[in-house]
Amino acid sequence: MSIAKKNHADYSDFNEFTSRDDTFDMLLMSYESLCEGQRDWVCNLSNAASLLWHAYKSLNVEVNWAGFYIVRDCKPTELLLGPFQGKVACQSIPFGQGVCGAAAETQMTQVVSDVGKFSGHIACDGDTKSEIVVPIISEDGKTTGVIDLDCGDFNGFGESDKIYLERLAQLITKTCDFN
Ligand code: SME
Repeated sequence: MSIAKKNHADYSDFNEFTSRDDTFDMLLMSYESLCEGQRDWVCNLSNAASLLWHAYKSLNVEVNWAGFYIVRDCKPTELLLGPFQGKVACQSIPFGQGVCGAAAETQMTQVVSDVGKFSGHIACDGDTKSEIVVPIISEDGKTTGVIDLDCGDFNGFGESDKIYLERLAQLITKTCDFN
């Protein structure tokens, strides 16, 4: 479903929504609207990172990083830093390493309530306490990237985040051409 806003920046305004469900419904609709006529992954994931950042901020979740790691054809078992909002982060992560690498390798969403208890967690920012990583899977079953969100509080993410972010990952597969 698509929605029209007056200016592009208006899509970043989630202040009228108070519940996670309403906020995420709007995020998914906004993402789809912004992708109309545009299939380039850099362009679409840049706006998606901004939507995620502003949506979580509006819910008062202490998100300190929101973005993407992407698989490039030349290195099919490595995640490379993609569009994001937040502080500078590590550039590449091999499949199987860290929370991102675990999601990429297993193709399973990783919800980590305390990163200190996740063996092999890669601490890009020492302030991060919890994290969620959702794999983006192509129509032919390959990992094309991950959605990564970090939070400055423990237990930042739960089941509803997993459900909505997995829907976002499916939309990304449907709307973006990679490589
Ligand atoms: N913590 C991640 C690394 C990426 S940063 O959080 C942006 C991990 O363990 O894979």
